[in-house]
Amino acid sequence: MRPERVPALDAELAAALAEIHAAAFAEEGARGWSAAELLGLCARPSARLWVSRDAEGEPCAFLLCDLVLDEAEILTLATAPEARRQGAARGLLTLGGADLRAEGAQLLRLEVATDNISASGLYQSLGFQEIARRKAYFQRPDGRIDARIFLLDLQGFA
Ligand SMILES: CC(C)(COP(=O)(O)OP(=O)(O)OC[C@H]1O[C@@H](n2cnc3c(N)ncnc32)[C@H](O)[C@@H]1OP(=O)(O)O)[C@@H](O)C(=O)NCCC(=O)NCCS
Repeated sequence: MRPERVPALDAELAAALAEIHAAAFAEEGARGWSAAELLGLCARPSARLWVSRDAEGEPCAFLLCDLVLDEAEILTLATAPEARRQGAARGLLTLGGADLRAEGAQLLRLEVATDNISASGLYQSLGFQEIARRKAYFQRPDGRIDARIFLLDLQGFA
């Protein structure tokens, strides 16, 4: 897996990332983001994007964050189902965290659904701490579900 920062998202890559997002979040019961939505999000000055590629050079995972002053937030993180458990997400968070820190971020935060065991395991393995819960934060086909809010202190990270 090869993670890299992508300074500007083009239409072709946006289409590939939209496919990854739809496949990754379908199993979470959540709607994937379209290529147009991803292009819109990435066009904002606060957006930061990293993509991981497989051995053939095809995109297989990505991380999208916002950076505002000294606080960064994970907007989404997705690995294609066929590329799971090969370190793609860990690699993206490691590079992303280091890049964000170099840009002045002190904290990195995110919300994750309480039943998302794989993502919670990933964040905890990287040192993120749960700081709070948010009631009924995510919409699911069968109702709303609470979110765990995780925070990582980027001082001392990578
Ligand atoms: C969560 C997700 C991004 C992980 O992607 P990944 O590339 O498979 O993760 P990695 O291979 O880098 O895993 C790193 C570590 O995370 C943890 N982890 C990942 N998947 C896990 C699972 N299914 N169960 C338990 N722990 C898991 C493990 O600690 C793992 O390390 P290990 O493989 O050495 O045990 C991926 O499962 C996904 O896209 N899920 C759907 C979308 C989502 O939930 N995104 C995050 C929302 S904030």
